[in-house]
Amino acid sequence: MRMYDIIHKKREGGELTGEELRFFVQGFTRGEIPDYQASALLMAIFFRGMTRRETGDLTLEMARSGDTVDLSSLPGVKVDKHSTGGVGDKTSLIIGPIAAACGVTIAKMSGRGLGHTGGTVDKLESIPGLRTDIPRQEFFDIVKRTGLSIIGQSGNLCPADKKLYALRDVTATVESLPLIASSIMSKKIAAGADAILLDVKVGSGAFMKTLEDSRALAQEMVRIGSQVGRRTVALITDMDMPLGRHIGNALEVQEAVEVLSGGGDSRLRDLCLELSANMIYLGQRAETMEEARAKAAEAVSAGRALQKLAEMVEAQGGDPSYIAHPEKFTLSPACVELSAPQTGYITRLDAEGCGLAAVELGAGRETKESSIDFGAGIVLLQNKGDRVEQGQPIARLYAQSEALCRRGKERFLASLEVGELAPKRGPMIVERIAEEG
Ligand code: URA
Repeated sequence: MRMYDIIHKKREGGELTGEELRFFVQGFTRGEIPDYQASALLMAIFFRGMTRRETGDLTLEMARSGDTVDLSSLPGVKVDKHSTGGVGDKTSLIIGPIAAACGVTIAKMSGRGLGHTGGTVDKLESIPGLRTDIPRQEFFDIVKRTGLSIIGQSGNLCPADKKLYALRDVTATVESLPLIASSIMSKKIAAGADAILLDVKVGSGAFMKTLEDSRALAQEMVRIGSQVGRRTVALITDMDMPLGRHIGNALEVQEAVEVLSGGGDSRLRDLCLELSANMIYLGQRAETMEEARAKAAEAVSAGRALQKLAEMVEAQGGDPSYIAHPEKFTLSPACVELSAPQTGYITRLDAEGCGLAAVELGAGRETKESSIDFGAGIVLLQNKGDRVEQGQPIARLYAQSEALCRRGKERFLASLEVGELAPKRGPMIVERIAEEG
């Protein structure tokens, strides 16, 4: 078999066989196929697409390219969740504890933030003492004890995806449906859960800007999950504006605690309750979605979900008093308050722009090597659709210095528009996609 023939076949619109995809994934992972040939194939896939069978085969080959996690020694149905990335997305910190408080087993590996999107591992590490770099056996012991653990990715999981994603990033081949679907699902399959919940974002801050594209991605991933025997459900959710009111690591833990205490931003709370209900349903702790929704709401109102987060924090070496008293978090010392430039409605508060402002403030990473300031970020006092008076405070920015605050302020203001007419604010949860329809 020759890589040249595989590239040629795809360039002409042919369908690659399972053997051809295995040859490519294995050869590329081992370093036997050079980047220039892999890049050519990625570009051919970008333009020609893939059939469902090809996407499924590519996913499985990538999932098998390194270690896989065997969660079978853990009790119950293990449910994982993946979000396609967003700004202010602290949902894992909220829905993991809610679902675990309802008896679902959550043994989750999460990522770090990059660019305008944040990562759960960074948010967790803003809790003093908390470890996310936990050896496999200890991770399993915590899950057996508490029903919940969220750690960083460890081991050699999906090396093919790591290499391919880095190449896609520099060859303008990220935005390809079969490549995104296989990249996400290969990691979820290798991570070993029995069932997978996908939060597919749509809007200005998302990979997929239109409903049509996000629906196609969600359908493809749900189909791949079912094909490999993992029950998979996708929710398509809004990412046109930041999720909730806090952007930044310690700030987002504070907001997660607020929601777990029964308060917080209503759109964020609604999304978290619906995501948790889906996890409870997938984890077979409820027979219907109605029952699952009731269980999720009860876990919050009874305080069991918040208690579950504190248990996990303590089990991972963190100081649980920060969960009981989130005001203990130290925020960055320089703070500026921004006010509305005119009276009217906030007609645009671009999620990606706010995410980039948070990076300028020090809350995110420009490159994988950048360090982050856990106490930096943005508190939105108003969000898209809110009515504001000229001069009314709309956001507070936190950073290590006033110079950083100024940089963040510039970015933030570029993502904001105030106009006379109230904008249409679409629903938070746009669609649910499951194999059974
Ligand atoms: N997230 C991933 O993990 N992979 C992609 O290709 C896109 C988003």
